[in-house]
Amino acid sequence: MNFWRDMTKPIIGLSPMDGVTDASFRFITAKYGPPDVTVTEFVNVEAALYAPHTLIRDLAYSEIERPVIAQIYGHTPELFYKVAHVIGELGFNGLDINMGCPAKTVASKGSGAGLILKPELAQSIIRAARQGIEDWSAGQSLDDLGMKPALIQSVLKLNRRRFDGVTLPPRRAIPVSVKTRLGYDDVVVEEWIRTLLEEKPAAITLHGRTLKQQYKGSADWDAIARAVEIAKNSDTLILGNGDLKDMEDVYRRVRETNVDGVLSGRAAQGEPWIFRAKEQVKQALRSQCREMIHDVPVSLAERFRIMLEHSAHFASHTQIHSFVGMRKHLAWYSKGSPGAAELRAQMVRVKDIDEVAALLRAYATSLGTTFAADRPPAWPEAHTLQP
Ligand SMILES: Cc1cc2nc3c(=O)[nH]c(=O)nc-3n(C[C@H](O)[C@H](O)[C@H](O)COP(=O)(O)O)c2cc1C
Repeated sequence: MNFWRDMTKPIIGLSPMDGVTDASFRFITAKYGPPDVTVTEFVNVEAALYAPHTLIRDLAYSEIERPVIAQIYGHTPELFYKVAHVIGELGFNGLDINMGCPAKTVASKGSGAGLILKPELAQSIIRAARQGIEDWSAGQSLDDLGMKPALIQSVLKLNRRRFDGVTLPPRRAIPVSVKTRLGYDDVVVEEWIRTLLEEKPAAITLHGRTLKQQYKGSADWDAIARAVEIAKNSDTLILGNGDLKDMEDVYRRVRETNVDGVLSGRAAQGEPWIFRAKEQVKQALRSQCREMIHDVPVSLAERFRIMLEHSAHFASHTQIHSFVGMRKHLAWYSKGSPGAAELRAQMVRVKDIDEVAALLRAYATSLGTTFAADRPPAWPEAHTLQP
């Protein structure tokens, strides 16, 4: 079932960010955005198979995130074949293969953007992942593949929590997509996109930079437009990515390039609600009227409530993550408020949600207002992840 095809274009989704788009951030974005589609942080295929706690940490999600896609990376087709079974079993709506990560630890091993230098391997990885999904949907189980009992237990545990005891949906062949860059050292987008299209992925998300550029310079949307042109008569959607600051940028880039959609990453840091305006963008594109897009204001009180709810959700993972991982989010949320620098400096030292609440109360008082800072209501046990 290819959900990509059925979505209203342009698709406006949340881009995966390792260390950022974890289960809590995705939950909060889905609740206060929501984006059209959500992608998990990337998960190494070896870790997924041999360190099952990785699944619990990185592949937990809640139903409100749907359609939700699991992103995996690696360089060994057989492992993609096996992990595809796990992704299917976990009820994801799609499987995405990372061919864009520029980190030395990833790309120098031939994974992530390293695959741009190995087009044939990249193609066999897509084929292996798709075959894994097909065999899983035809009935092959994790047991059939001789997977470790601890891995199977982790999958069962995640499913029980998410579905709260409800039966799993029937097996379906979910779409396989790719997220990549324009090239390794140089822009080779035309050749690279043609190589990927031979394997007919359901979608390709293209970050408008090469590996060598890392995050420097500006994303090259002209190159993304060339990829759209090449994919025009195929069944593969092209999503553009890179430097979209707000929904006006989304409007402009979609108009200029005719992409089927976009993924936005850094703009959602500290502003998970940015996707609220996505319907305005679609409307504005239909009526060709940019003026229809305007900010959806978020009051200070609402921002504070979201900070607390995000912290509480994150704290439910503390046996896996330490609260330290929440600090950067709190600093991002603090941006732009009056006297933000001091609030930020305090937020990057907090140890738990009570400290967050106390800081928010004191900050509200300093602005001559009050903030009750009540603990958010507990969410269903199914969404918490205490092992
Ligand atoms: C901290 C961080 C972590 C990232 N991790 C991933 C990842 O796990 N998988 C992936 O495909 N891209 C990853 N990216 C790249 C983003 O998805 C996106 O392509 C890039 O940030 C450009 O889009 P933006 O300008 O909207 O942020 C990451 C980016 C950042 C900043």
